[in-house]
Amino acid sequence: MNNHWSEYWQQGHTTSFGDALSGNYEGILKSIWQPTFIALQQGFMAIDIGTGNGSLPLLIRESLRSENLTGEVIGVDLAEVKLAEKDALEQSNIHITLLSNQASESLPFATASVDLYTSQFGFEYSDINLSLKEASRVLKNNGQFCLVFHHANSMILNRNKNILRLIELPQAQSLVARLNDIAIAMGKVSSPDDIARIKQDPNCEKIRAEINRLIKYLVLFDEKAAQDCQLMAFVAQFFKEGLFWTVAKKQQFIEFIKLQMDTLKLRLTELVQASFDEAKLGQFVSHFNQHSISLNEIKVLKNEQNDILAWYLSAQKIVG
Ligand SMILES: C[S@@+](CC[C@H](N)C(=O)[O-])C[C@H]1O[C@@H](n2cnc3c(N)ncnc32)[C@H](O)[C@@H]1O
Repeated sequence: MNNHWSEYWQQGHTTSFGDALSGNYEGILKSIWQPTFIALQQGFMAIDIGTGNGSLPLLIRESLRSENLTGEVIGVDLAEVKLAEKDALEQSNIHITLLSNQASESLPFATASVDLYTSQFGFEYSDINLSLKEASRVLKNNGQFCLVFHHANSMILNRNKNILRLIELPQAQSLVARLNDIAIAMGKVSSPDDIARIKQDPNCEKIRAEINRLIKYLVLFDEKAAQDCQLMAFVAQFFKEGLFWTVAKKQQFIEFIKLQMDTLKLRLTELVQASFDEAKLGQFVSHFNQHSISLNEIKVLKNEQNDILAWYLSAQKIVG
């Protein structure tokens, strides 16, 4: 699973919200962390799990910018990740390191060495029971364990479940297959004469009508999901920019669309499986005692419109 994340992080995103969030986290997903970050003490050691390109380590550094405090933040991720160059070069008392290819189930840190363990939309993708055990091992006595994680009924999950439902429809797959049929049926297209020829070709017209029918079906099924999954944009690109491409280039583009749809399906399936409903949360928390983790708070995070964004959990390692 880390391959598609590696590909994603190499595109230079800061958060997992892609182009929908151009910088780092804002609003409640930023402010919820402030009390925890500003409580860090001189010489602290913090680790961030499923860190991506370091969104939370960067928020720690930003929160402590005006404090005269030195500390270490190490972000770990199963995927290939790295800080943006400007962030890596920034002079700061808060030293950030990101470790790639590193699983939360087995961390490269000494027992009882960590003051703060965080994760935002990362921990839940792992084997949560093994990761909890490992978190308990690396945390110092009184060390903080704080997570923001996916809620099964959040707006994020609802939007993505709709996208998944749409791209799993046979009609979505047929649409891509019909693009290949029309690429072959049209043959070489390089002049207005070719366009006239295609318009009079009954086979091309039949496939084009079928493509229109499939588009209409998908848009009527769920217009927002049809736009959000980018399939409509790809089809438009195929018929505009791509019309005069060679057949081979058109087919290369169709393979690219298939790969995008497959990767999206994989990513969204993982997201749905990773999210927590109340029953899963209850189960998870019931293991805290055996790992000497003491729960402080669980709450549902909402945005200004009162939409559910995520769960927030704060706990502490207590020995003895
Ligand atoms: C949704 S992203 C979140 C990234 C970042 N925390 C953010 O909020 O933008 C989930 C990340 O968890 C990582 N991940 C999944 N399973 C993991 C595991 N077992 N150990 C460490 N990282 C993992 C993925 O590679 C991915 O980068």
